[in-house]
Amino acid sequence: MRVAVACDHGGLNLKQEIIKLLEQKGIEYEDLGTFSEEPVDYPDIAFNLAEAVARGEYDRGIIICGTGIGVSIAANKVKGIRAALCHDVYSARMSRLHNDANVLALGGRVIGPGLAREIVEEWLKAEFEGGRHQRRIDKISSYEKK
Ligand code: RB5
Repeated sequence: MRVAVACDHGGLNLKQEIIKLLEQKGIEYEDLGTFSEEPVDYPDIAFNLAEAVARGEYDRGIIICGTGIGVSIAANKVKGIRAALCHDVYSARMSRLHNDANVLALGGRVIGPGLAREIVEEWLKAEFEGGRHQRRIDKISSYEKK
């Protein structure tokens, strides 16, 4: 699995924690920035990651801003992206099982590194269940084509 990771200045510290986790787990990843605490605009960060995931360059993306809200709103504007903002393990697992979320959004100012690591681990290993959930995903994809 190839994972893209990105953040704005509000998510910088948490991104470093997530990168540590990916390295410990031997998961292939690319860090798409930002790389310093210099303020950046979260839509730029989110569109860049989401478009790369939508093009198929990565299997999944993890994006982090202060709350996770801005990056999730922006990422969900990109066709083919199903970004889930999850601050608990249950939602993270369900976003894969039922929603086939291909982007996980996190708030670096909302949760600590321990919970964030558990969320990411669960989210990366959970598999989409398909079946009736595929029909619902297909409806979202059809809506995007309007
Ligand atoms: C930046 O201060 C902050 O607004 C951003 O990280 C994010 O929380 C937006 O949703």
